[in-house]
Amino acid sequence: MSGSGSVSATELLQRAQAIHDSIRTWRRTIHRYPELSFTEQRTAALVNSVLIDLGLPTETEVAKTGVVAHIRGGDGPTVALRADMDALPIQEINGSEFDSTRPGIMHACGHDAHTAMLLGAATLLKQLADEGKLPGVVRLLFQPSEEAQDEEGKSGGMRMVEEGALQGVDAVFGLHVDPFHDVGYVATRPGPMMAAADMFEIVVIGSGGHAARPQNTIDPIALSAHVINAVHQIVSRRLDPTQPGVITIGTIQGGTANNVIPDRVTMTGTIRSFTPEVRTLLQDELMRAAGVVESLGGRAEVTIFPGYPPTVNDPAATAHMTDAMRELLGEDRVAESELIMGAEDFSYMAQAAPGCFLRLGVHNPCVARILPGAPRGFSSG
Ligand code: NI
Repeated sequence: MSGSGSVSATELLQRAQAIHDSIRTWRRTIHRYPELSFTEQRTAALVNSVLIDLGLPTETEVAKTGVVAHIRGGDGPTVALRADMDALPIQEINGSEFDSTRPGIMHACGHDAHTAMLLGAATLLKQLADEGKLPGVVRLLFQPSEEAQDEEGKSGGMRMVEEGALQGVDAVFGLHVDPFHDVGYVATRPGPMMAAADMFEIVVIGSGGHAARPQNTIDPIALSAHVINAVHQIVSRRLDPTQPGVITIGTIQGGTANNVIPDRVTMTGTIRSFTPEVRTLLQDELMRAAGVVESLGGRAEVTIFPGYPPTVNDPAATAHMTDAMRELLGEDRVAESELIMGAEDFSYMAQAAPGCFLRLGVHNPCVARILPGAPRGFSSG
């Protein structure tokens, strides 16, 4: 809202404070009833009823379980605000009065807060529109399934873009809560901010047999050791050291008994990168690294499952966001974000329209960090 001249930052903050209780109630209600990706019916129903109560016509079942609404003000740009709504398959053990009521499902990534905050923003912006102080149109995007891709390999953000939810949008903004920044601080950066995340599977194929007669086998477990070493030399030896990239092998499975050499070993992992060049290089080098088993008599099958592209912030949209945040929070409260190796499907929206993604500090400085010194950017993907 910076620069619109119609409402001061101070007044906006006062209006936000006035609806604080509502926002907290929404957040805690959503937290109590978390829903996994693409099953956010209850959350979408709550969103829909709040928007209807505000007098906003809604479009439901967008991207399966998403909700879209418009707040129409005077002449001006169309700006989209996005919140994701899904939870994670994690058991909550916090012991708060608003703990998850659903065993094994929890809003552990803060999307409950994102959804509640966007409902708060909708309330404020509707007030402004009613008072003739909103210069433009705000499109509210309540997105399902940021955390997961469906059987067709599509996430909620990807489906929303496909279904045209970003059409005619001049700029799109989203945010993620960030426990590595203190409350009252935000961070963003122009250009790439969050990584692309691709999944891979490597199947090392040998020839099984008795563990005591290895000479009659091609041991895929021994071969896998070479693959792991080769994979871990990609970033250190094949990638330009000035370019960020990660390859992590996250699972390895093979064998059924201590005295049997199996036929195959399966590994899965993730590749993180910020540019198309590095993304391609890491994928190509992964194939090559797995091929090391061929010289030892084995075979490797590598499958890459493309995931989210990098989240790239538009410089003009980011400058606008940064100016607005400085006005709202103070000059020293707006940091330049580090590069984050986590991925975000806001990336698809930022490909469809000039976008900016913000990290919103939520760490209470009076509370010790659960993981002291833990790396940043653990979130999403
Ligand atoms: Ni998240």
